[in-house]
Amino acid sequence: MSIRIAPSILSADLGRLSEQVESAAAGGADWLHVDVMDGHFVPNLTFGTPLIRALRRISDLPIDVHLMVERPEHYIEEYAELGVSVFTFHPEATVHVQRHLARVRELGMLAGLALNPGTPVAHLEEVVGDVGLVLVMSVNPGFGGQNYLPASTDKIARVRRLLDARQSAAALEVDGGITMATIGKAYAAGADTFVAGTAVFGEPDAAGAVKALRAACSVRGKR
Ligand code: DX5
Ligand code: ZN
Repeated sequence: MSIRIAPSILSADLGRLSEQVESAAAGGADWLHVDVMDGHFVPNLTFGTPLIRALRRISDLPIDVHLMVERPEHYIEEYAELGVSVFTFHPEATVHVQRHLARVRELGMLAGLALNPGTPVAHLEEVVGDVGLVLVMSVNPGFGGQNYLPASTDKIARVRRLLDARQSAAALEVDGGITMATIGKAYAAGADTFVAGTAVFGEPDAAGAVKALRAACSVRGKR
């Protein structure tokens, strides 16, 4: 199974955005993870359209948007037009989850469903056929630099079993506290896509950090 590393722009130095993105790309980053927060769904406010537009100009890498906002459906059309590749939202943030997943897919983006640490996998069961990506949150969303919650490993394994049982080819992404010490566990449990903020942009050599994270999957996590 191929591994994807998705550095999170949340931890980048925005004053040197191009340089930081180029460095991540040089290290083999697969996607750029963009955390959109509205100060309501999560207690933090980050960025949106202007940053996504800037990233689209400076890099060819697929843009993986993680919406931590209420009513994420308001952004589906706009983000599709901006050239976003992955559109992931939280089921608690809206009402008609299946309808929105279908619309995201219709517009050519990968439709992602994010599960908070306290959100049961059952949310996924009902819509697994509409999902192109499952995002298992391994911290409570809102901030970078938090510690990986140990219970996430078992949850990743349960999601992996569900996807396999339903013959879903959806990507299984993990987000929060992914470091050289934790990535192997998440990989061994069945994740294939790894968001890393601090572990990439908190390092002086972002390119080297991306390479090291990828290598740590095969060294530490047997699958
Ligand atoms: C947290 C965000 C993450 C964050 C991860 O709410 O969803 O994407 O950037 O940061 P690290 O890798 O530092 O835990
Ligand atoms: Zn995220």
